[in-house]
Amino acid sequence: MHILGIETSCDETAAAIVADGRTVVSNVVYTQIPLHRQYGGVVPEIASRAHVEKIPQVVKDALTRPVDAVAVTYGPGLSPALIVGLNAAKGLAKALGVPLFGINHIEAHLHTPFLRDAGDEGEAVPIEESMPALGLAVSGGHTNWIDMPEYGVYETVGQTLDDAAGEAFDKAAKLLGLGYPGGPVIDRIAREYGHGDLMPFPRGRPREGVSALAGLDAELCVSFSGLKTSLLRYVQKRGGAEALAASGDLPKTVASYQEAIVQSVADRTMRALKRRDYRSLIVGGGVSLNSRMREVLSETCARAGVRILLAKPKYCGDNGAMIAALAYYRRNVDASLIDVSPSLEVG
Ligand code: KG4
Ligand code: ZN
Repeated sequence: MHILGIETSCDETAAAIVADGRTVVSNVVYTQIPLHRQYGGVVPEIASRAHVEKIPQVVKDALTRPVDAVAVTYGPGLSPALIVGLNAAKGLAKALGVPLFGINHIEAHLHTPFLRDAGDEGEAVPIEESMPALGLAVSGGHTNWIDMPEYGVYETVGQTLDDAAGEAFDKAAKLLGLGYPGGPVIDRIAREYGHGDLMPFPRGRPREGVSALAGLDAELCVSFSGLKTSLLRYVQKRGGAEALAASGDLPKTVASYQEAIVQSVADRTMRALKRRDYRSLIVGGGVSLNSRMREVLSETCARAGVRILLAKPKYCGDNGAMIAALAYYRRNVDASLIDVSPSLEVG
């Protein structure tokens, strides 16, 4: 079964065809990053307009063969951006005379380690045998720990109480004058510096009983607002970003900040892994491209005795393939009749 997936929840206009939920047949991603760069973050109205302009061509390029269904992200994400994809998908499914399935963006990120390309060597990563799994969706919009007792069953057990990990990278880069998006540049600077001699930044452990926990266990949640403030104070103390850079201490600052994010995420992951007899950790989202994150999470999983399932780099960021693929396994939402759901929760 071939499904066309459409994704427009944030700043990527993307479409792809995936066969039987596994093998990517076509994959087209138009990234709007250059349009948002001068603002230091995604501007919803600009994103929406760019989706409107690009989606016809992106879908046309991805539609390399007939499909049996169309799938589309209906949440969570930016409302004006989601609307463009959903409307395009509704029109396309109707024109093609095929069903239209609505997909949760976060759940789709957690399918990315199972994606394959035609011609990939080796066995496909088994899905059922990877369960029960702990899912970690770590991106510019989300940092969630998700319990997956079996495939297709999701329950959020932990999350960030404020900024997502990617946002913490992006805001720090903005403060330090490193450009947008912050993750890749911080990753590069930190990799060159190493992680031997670092400054202690806060590890974002929320206090028990904070109302933002909304019933979740504080042990499995993170908060990056203290870390951000602590970086801001440090930069001010050093006379501003330019003075800090001129002193030569920027790489150490950046590497220390990254380490705080990575260790916070790894610490909560370890705590979550101890709660159940998990077989695997499934990681998805743009921040899972971070080289230190991949390294530390791999060590965490080795210690916990679970298998780590990471996506190929090209499937870490937002893409249509993850939407098309998950739709093969989850056809429970008829999207021809629904509206977008910007705050959609998993499960
Ligand atoms: O999954 P994604 O493409 O979009 C969302 O759904 O948010 O993630 C984008 C986020 C951005 O915040 C970006 O800075 C971050 O992923 N990112 C990284 C790296 N590459 C992208 N963060 C840390 N290290 C990286 N190498
Ligand atoms: Zn995403």
